[in-house]
Amino acid sequence: MNESFAAKFPPGPPPNLIRALFGAMQQNPLDYFSAMAQKYGDVSGMRIGNFRSLFVNHPDLIEDVLVNNARKFHKGRILQANKYLFGEGLLTSEGDFWLRQRRLSQPAFHRTRINAYAATMAEYTEQLVSTWQDGEERDIHEEMMQLALRIVGKTLFDADVTQDAKEVGETLDLLLRMAANFGRTVLVPLWVPTPRNLRAKLGVHRLEKVIYRIISARRASGRDTGDLLSILLQVRDEDGTRMSDRQLRDETITLFLAGHETTANTLSWSWWLLAQNPAVEKKFHEELDGVLGGRIPTVEDLPKLNYLNHVLTESLRLYPTAWGMARLAAEEHEIAGYPVHPGYGVAFAQWVVHRDPRWYDAPLEFRPERWENGLAKRLPRFAYFPFGGGPRQCIGNTFALMEASVVLATIGQKFRFRLVPGHKVTPLASITLRPKDGIQVKLETRK
Ligand code: HEM
Repeated sequence: MNESFAAKFPPGPPPNLIRALFGAMQQNPLDYFSAMAQKYGDVSGMRIGNFRSLFVNHPDLIEDVLVNNARKFHKGRILQANKYLFGEGLLTSEGDFWLRQRRLSQPAFHRTRINAYAATMAEYTEQLVSTWQDGEERDIHEEMMQLALRIVGKTLFDADVTQDAKEVGETLDLLLRMAANFGRTVLVPLWVPTPRNLRAKLGVHRLEKVIYRIISARRASGRDTGDLLSILLQVRDEDGTRMSDRQLRDETITLFLAGHETTANTLSWSWWLLAQNPAVEKKFHEELDGVLGGRIPTVEDLPKLNYLNHVLTESLRLYPTAWGMARLAAEEHEIAGYPVHPGYGVAFAQWVVHRDPRWYDAPLEFRPERWENGLAKRLPRFAYFPFGGGPRQCIGNTFALMEASVVLATIGQKFRFRLVPGHKVTPLASITLRPKDGIQVKLETRK
């Protein structure tokens, strides 16, 4: 490698550890990364202490990392620093171990398996709706979080987590908030006994208790209830080995965490967008009434709900719950002529790419119709990537889309939501993109 190549680093903000950790990037990463892309273009460089990272903003360059050169990269520093929580689960493990786990888990996400969950998803949504009254005010985000947690509990573990929902929900909330804190991750590793770290450890312990209780009850009963846990308990590798309890714990905590907040956020943002766009909401209702006519949606109905599908696609474009992703180079690589040495970070932001006028007309407008005439096929592959891509693509994408469709269709037939005046909805970019103080709505029964 020649001298100038080695010294080449993309343009970017001046290096400053303190500002990076406590300044704009920490306070408002969405604005920070949008401004980076605007100011420095498709590849920019960040230096935080002696850590160097490239921020990449062009779909082809993103594809090059996530798909063509996936083997050269590991998961980013924030996820790695949170192994105390995720362990060696699918989200955080690497290499051959990850590949083995992914193969073992794949049957649990097979479409036919997931189709069987649609009835549970609809049933739990019906139960929730039956507690709602016309004119009541609720935080729709809180409602979606509890619902998604119950659905994940039932479909993954065949366990009713209603009793645990509040505690598990609060613990997950705390852990996810901590997990996303880059400053803490870099400056205060978990072994330092700060009050926050102690709270996190206690939180993990509480979560583990619930999970181990469910695993041991299932092992003892020996039942195959057709859920994901049954499959994970049964699967054997080519050499006949099964998953250990520790590995089951890592996979189930990962699925619990990855599978509930993400879908809940997607639903919350969809309701919020619908409530602000009456013309879209009207079309959405008309389709539901036409296709379902008051029936509970089934798997067979879902492909007929085209407009609902576009609403969901558009919500995930504007408010992608996985708003950004990161990798750590494990081998030498090059991006747009810039060297990427082992230990360098590479970051992408769905939030920024999904709002880029090069790919979308009127990018800030909520227009489900834009997806009507095959836009998805005309776009570069990574101009829209709410579920990531390449070998580490989200394993739960079909599950998530089915759940979101069933919940939207079930609730949308009965209720619409009016935003409570004076309540400000602010996107908070934690590990996921969520409404910071929830979304207060007034429930209105549809006549
Ligand atoms: C709208 C909902 C969801 C979104 C937007 C989403 C997004 C993502 C993204 C972007 C990744 C890739 C992360 C990376 O490459 O660094 C991912 C991975 C993952 N997701 Fe999801 N996800 C959603 C729902 C779910 C659900 C419902 C489950 C499980 C039930 C799930 C389980 C996972 C797992 C296990 C991984 C790691 C896969 C691997 O590396 O092999 N996700 N998700």
